[in-house]
Parts: sequence; C-alpha cells; structure tokens
Amino acid sequence: MSRIALVTGGSRGIGAAISVALKGAGYKVAANYAGNDEKAQAFTAETGIPTYKWDVSDYAACAAGIAKVEADLGPIEILVNNAGITRDAMFHKMTPENWKDVIDTNLSGLFNMTHPVWTGMRDRNFGRVINISSINGQKGQMGQANYSAAKAGDLGFTKALAQEGAAKGITVNAICPGYIGTEMVRAIPEKVLAERIIPQIPVGRLGEPEEIARIAVFLASDDAGFITGSTISANGGQFFV
Ligand SMILES: NC(=O)c1ccc[n+]([C@@H]2O[C@H](COP(=O)([O-])OP(=O)(O)OC[C@H]3O[C@@H](n4cnc5c(N)ncnc54)[C@H](OP(=O)(O)O)[C@@H]3O)[C@@H](O)[C@H]2O)c1
Repeated sequence: MSRIALVTGGSRGIGAAISVALKGAGYKVAANYAGNDEKAQAFTAETGIPTYKWDVSDYAACAAGIAKVEADLGPIEILVNNAGITRDAMFHKMTPENWKDVIDTNLSGLFNMTHPVWTGMRDRNFGRVINISSINGQKGQMGQANYSAAKAGDLGFTKALAQEGAAKGITVNAICPGYIGTEMVRAIPEKVLAERIIPQIPVGRLGEPEEIARIAVFLASDDAGFITGSTISANGGQFFV
C-alpha cells in the first residue's frame, strides 16, 4: 500500500516540486497552502494532487487540517515541513511584525505541524519528518535576522526530535537549499541576483526545485532509515558547514 505524504507549502515552488516527485515515487500526496487559491487549484488540476488550505502558524488550524487529510487519505507517514516566508529588512528597520510573522511560520510552523502527527508516527513505529531549512540558517544573512534565526531554529528542532524519534522508527532530517529559482528568489531584483548572488555560487547558477525534491524523496524512502538528525546542504558549493 502506498504511504501517505503531506507537504506544507506544497502547491508552489520547492514544495510543489517535492509533492510531484513524491507522487512520482508512488506516495499518496496531499499539499497544504496558505491562501493562493488560484495557484493551488491550477496545481491540483495539473497534477491530480489534492490541496488543503490552512496557515501553518496556527496550531489549531494545523490540527484540524491534518485531521481532514487523514480522514481523506489515511495516516500521515511522511511530513515535509516546507512552508516558509521572508519579510526581509535590515535589523534597524525590521518591525516586530516582520520578526513575528517569520518566526511563527518558519519555526513555530514546524512545531504546529509535527506535534499533531507525532503520536501516530510513534504508535505505528514509522515516520519521516523532512524540514526545509536554508543556507541562510547555516551562515546567517544580512537583512534576514528573522529568517536566519527561524531557519537555524529548524536545525535545532531537527536534531532534538531525531533523538526522540530514533527508537520509534521515525527519522527527522533537514535540507538546507541554497538559492533556488522559485518565486521567493525571483522576487529579488534581477540586478542583485546577477551581480551579487549568482557570483557567490561556484556552480554559477540557481538551483532547480527538482534538485531539492530528489533529496526529499530519498529521505522519505525506506533506504534512508539510518539517516536521522542530518542536515543535507544543496547550495551549489556556496557554503560548506
Ligand atoms: N527559494 C529558495 O531559494 C529557498 C532557499 C532556501 C530555503 N528555502 C525554503 O524553502 C521553502 C519553500 O520556498 P519557496 O521558494 O518554494 O517558496 P514559495 O515559492 O514562496 O512558496 C511558498 C509556499 O509556502 C506556502 N506558505 C507560505 N506561508 C504559509 C503558511 N503560513 N501556511 C501554509 N502555507 C504557507 C505558500 O502558499 P500560498 O501559495 O498559498 O502562498 C506556498 O505554497 C521555504 O521554507 C523557504 O524558506 C527556499
């Protein structure tokens, strides 16, 4: 029987590529999204992957959304915590709202989504939690004190939870993408991308969402059962931990 996977922010960008790749690998996939109904409907029409709207920064909404997915598809065995946002500003201009929005979505979102599925994974002695962090959580990035803090927090969460899940057949890993050509990165002015960002990437290009998706498919597989608490970097050689 196919295993069931839920991908947060699974209707666009890296998450969409992960949803599609997991479906291609034989999983039953559900994709969550926040509010872009048009993109979500187009994604479902194109891929056949059902989409579910809720905000990962809201614990009660996550619990209700997960219950709905489980009623429709069955117990969630693979959770990909991919949903994320940026609210970039230099720190002296960063507002408390900029800070809170990013921490609530990119860090607390992992608690809110993982907590409701954790007991079921423990009871079934199997689970895969895959957290999409970022190169900027590893190295820090000016203009992103909020984002870097949240993404670094995701790595601590991954390592702590991996220790708790290990005896129960649950692996918890993180992927740290470098700059990937999604709308999040295409929102950066072309001149900044060409003159300041791409020259820092030794392979000389942005990554493709599918290059991250292939890592997620591997981490979800039974073959990856001995990998837990790991951080896999995919950044074109931009930063070595
Ligand atoms: N792109 C990069 O270069 C890069 C590099 C390193 C790490 N990352 C990380 O990779 C992940 C995906 O990035 P991306 O570039 O693919 O982003 P994206 O293209 O902006 O897509 C973001 C997805 O997350 C969803 N989302 C945002 N906030 C949400 C919330 N509160 N609740 C539920 N869903 C929410 C969006 O839903 P709607 O469509 O409804 O808005 C969308 O499906 C993020 O965690 C990001 O930080 C990206």
